[in-house]
Amino acid sequence: MKLRKLTIGDHPELIKLWKRSGLPYKPKGRDGRAHIAREMAANPGLFIGAFDGDILVGAIVATHDGRKGWLNRVAVDPDYRRQGLARKLTLAGERSLRGQGIRIFGLLIHSYNRASLKLAQAMGYTLHRDILYLSKRDSDHV
Ligand SMILES: CC(C)(COP(=O)(O)OP(=O)(O)OC[C@H]1O[C@@H](n2cnc3c(N)ncnc32)[C@H](O)[C@@H]1OP(=O)(O)O)[C@@H](O)C(=O)NCCC(=O)NCCS
Repeated sequence: MKLRKLTIGDHPELIKLWKRSGLPYKPKGRDGRAHIAREMAANPGLFIGAFDGDILVGAIVATHDGRKGWLNRVAVDPDYRRQGLARKLTLAGERSLRGQGIRIFGLLIHSYNRASLKLAQAMGYTLHRDILYLSKRDSDHV
């Protein structure tokens, strides 16, 4: 399995991977091609894929605002799970963020997503039960 930086040419495969993984994503908003192309240009190296030969089987999207880093959309093809791929992708995301001076990493996980929660805790992330996540959206698609 090889990890490499994703480029906008990988976008169609990334969308297919998210679908296979059952991950909710926003094709008309922040996961659409134009938006992702802008993000990749602004933050080279923060979209990372895991490949079996030429096939994209895992991915992670790291982001940061200069203050904190976020690890988003970690997804592994159902046929490749429990082989340590998400762990590798998460470490690679952390490494890329460290390279940009980031020292604190966060994850937002739906409470029903036990696999992700287990993964995060197994990787040393602390669950903050006293923090509530609030958001304000211009539309449901963003
Ligand atoms: C969550 C997900 C990315 C995990 O991918 P993975 O490659 O199978 O995870 P790893 O093999 O790296 O697992 C590392 C550790 O995480 C924990 N873990 C991962 N999946 C787990 C599961 N289904 N149940 C319990 N623990 C799990 C275990 O501690 C595991 O170590 P172990 O296999 O030695 O016990 C994958 O299940 C997935 O793509 N889910 C759908 C997409 C999704 O929900 N993404 C998260 C959005 S926040």
